[in-house]
Formats: sequence, structure tokens, C-alpha cells
Amino acid sequence: MSQAHLAYENRVNLGSYYTPTKIVDIAWKMIAPYADSQTTVIDSACGYGDFLRNCGQSITIGCDIDETAIDVAKKNNNKVRFFQINALREVSRAKFGVPQQSNLIVVGNPPYNDKTSLIRHSIKDVDFEIDEDIASRDLGISFLRSYNKLEADLICVLHPLSYLIKPTNFRLLKEFTANYRLINALLISSCEFPESAKHTPFPIVLALYQRDMQGMDYSFIRSFPFRREDGLHFCLRDFDYITGYIRKYPSKKHQPIHNDSLFFWTMRDINALKRNRTFVESYRAHTIVIDKENLDYYVYVDVFKRNLHRLPFYFGNCDVLIDDELFQQYKLSFIRDTVRHHPYLEKHFQTDPMEEQQTASGLDVYFKLLLGEHHV
Ligand SMILES: C[S@@+](CC[C@H](N)C(=O)[O-])C[C@H]1O[C@@H](n2cnc3c(N)ncnc32)[C@H](O)[C@@H]1O
Repeated sequence: MSQAHLAYENRVNLGSYYTPTKIVDIAWKMIAPYADSQTTVIDSACGYGDFLRNCGQSITIGCDIDETAIDVAKKNNNKVRFFQINALREVSRAKFGVPQQSNLIVVGNPPYNDKTSLIRHSIKDVDFEIDEDIASRDLGISFLRSYNKLEADLICVLHPLSYLIKPTNFRLLKEFTANYRLINALLISSCEFPESAKHTPFPIVLALYQRDMQGMDYSFIRSFPFRREDGLHFCLRDFDYITGYIRKYPSKKHQPIHNDSLFFWTMRDINALKRNRTFVESYRAHTIVIDKENLDYYVYVDVFKRNLHRLPFYFGNCDVLIDDELFQQYKLSFIRDTVRHHPYLEKHFQTDPMEEQQTASGLDVYFKLLLGEHHV
């Protein structure tokens, strides 16, 4: 099953990257305990309708804005009620003929504009209308808001992990997070989607939310054990991040004052660090003027960049991780590595040649201890 009928440009515009069967099956296993013959299961961005194939006795509804996709879906599934409409316009249960009192489960993989992938932004020109109360620059956020508007009892969808772990995104989901609580979350790499395998992988989550008036706040997410396929868990709170030590962005207050200033490229998340530079020799937009008292921490990020291959994909939207106590022990290895790659920086450090040690093995020990069971 793939979105073969769509040209590249429309795939991007509609966010049409159909889900591999293996993942569809996992989603179904997650919702199965909550579904019976009285339940309505809806996928409001259903593509060919794959998520609705194995819904047992449940009532099934599929919706997609793409006419050809719905035509194919109708041929594939005769038990499902299909709608070829815009799911983000005049959102209500009535639109799909679902009674207010019935148990409603949303399933699927709604489109998302992924700003961290390398897809060309210039052709992202989605021009359909979206209800004002669910509108957002990110389609996936609008879809999550639409499920809240439908008052779905359970939601099992794929979306970028960044929606939950980036505080700015999390805040965009205010009404959603006031009414839903994450109860299960499986980490999936964007590599699993054949079309995006060419780009830097970014983390996606297959998330199961339950309607719950307690909702969830950001500290709930920080403590949440995100599951890997092999059963291991990743929890944001288990790590310390570079943001506590240095500025990530340029600031007006910090301009180059003399010829001796040092510069660093703006830091975003780990995936951005993969693409961007670290130390730069001249000042321009996007460069941070380094506060030399914290130079060691910039050295840290520079070395971290050369060791990104040690990190699994799900750290992609996190800030650079650090264990400061451990870093203090291995600092010399870091400085030597940076000086080797940027010789012009040597004069800023008083490294003692007598303390010569094997840089590579010091770094190896540091990163293995920092990452523990997450080390690749
Ligand atoms: C990531 S694909 C998922 C398809 C299918 N659920 C799957 O995973 O195989 C996203 C789908 O959302 C549809 N879509 C995009 N915007 C939509 C909208 N406003 N209303 C309904 N469907 C939309 C696209 O046509 C596309 O089929």
C-alpha cells in the first residue's frame, strides 16, 4: 500500500505518507482492548483506509480530502463508511453521523508539516480551509485539536514526537492536553516510512491518549516512559541538557566587541546540530558571540556533534545532552579534540602537554556513560 497515485508535490501538500502495515497492526493491538461492537472507529485522514481494515465488529468510518484515495479505499473495504471531505472544516460528530453518546475511537496517521525534515518548504502550499478554533501552522496540530472537538474517548495516532517534547509545541496543544492523557507511546523512526528514509530521521510516536479531565502538563511528559520496539524506555527527565549552561541563540546584548571574539552557530535541537556548523570564524546572522567563561561548554557541543552517530533517532528533537560532573572529569579529551579540528582555538586553552591522554578513548568512555543503554 502506498500513495502511488499522487505526484511528489501533492504528497508533500497533503502530507500523504501512508503507514507501513507493521505499524498499522501495532496501532490496532493498542486499541483492541477498548473496542467492541458498540464502538465507532474513525480515521479522518484515512488514505486507502488501511487503519480500518481489522476493526472487528466496530462501526468504521473513513475520511480523506483526496478523491482518488477514497475511490481506492472504497474498493478495498466494503464495511467502512467513507467520506470524501475536508476533516478540518466544520468539525463535529454530526458531520460523520456519530451520535454524541457513542464510544468514539480515532485512529490513523494524520498529515503533519514536518519542519525538521529536509523536504522543500516552498511547495508546501496547503490551501484548504480550517476551522478557526483548530487552525495552526502545523496540520498535525490541527488534526489533534479536531479530535478534541469530536470529543473522542480514545485516540491512537502517529505524530512527530516533537509535538509533546518541545515546550512551544506542547503549549500549542493546550485544549487538547487539558482533556487527554497519554497512556502508551511507542517510538518510531521516520526511516520506517520509505519516502522519508532519505532525510535525517526524526522521531515519530504512536501515541495512545485517553479522554481524561485531569489532562496532562509538561512535567507529566518529562516523566513519561516512551517505549522502544525492544521494550527499553526513554524518559526526558533522565538527562540533563546544555540549555542550563549556555545560550542557544544570538542575543542583541552580546555583540562582538573586539577582534578576539569567538563565534558559534545558533543551536536548535540535535537534528539541527547534525546539519549545522559549530565554531565559525566570522560574525554574521545566526552566530552566537561566545561568552568565554563558558567556552568549555561550546567545546562540549562541538565534540558532541562529531559523536552524534552514537545517539539513537529518538533524541533528534532534544537539546544536546550533558552530564556535567562527568564532563568535568573528561574535559581535557574534549578540548584536545576541538583543538585538533579547529587549530585557531588553541591559544584560548592552557592545555598541559604533560597531561597527554588518549583523546578518543576518553570520549568513548564519556559517551558510553552518558548514554548508558541508549548508546548506539
Ligand atoms: C499520512 S497520510 C495517512 C494515510 C493513511 N491513514 C495511512 O496512514 O496509510 C495523510 C492523509 O491525510 C489526507 N489529508 C490531508 N489533509 C486532509 C484534510 N484536511 N482532510 C482529510 N484528509 C486530509 C491526505 O490526503 C492523506 O491521505
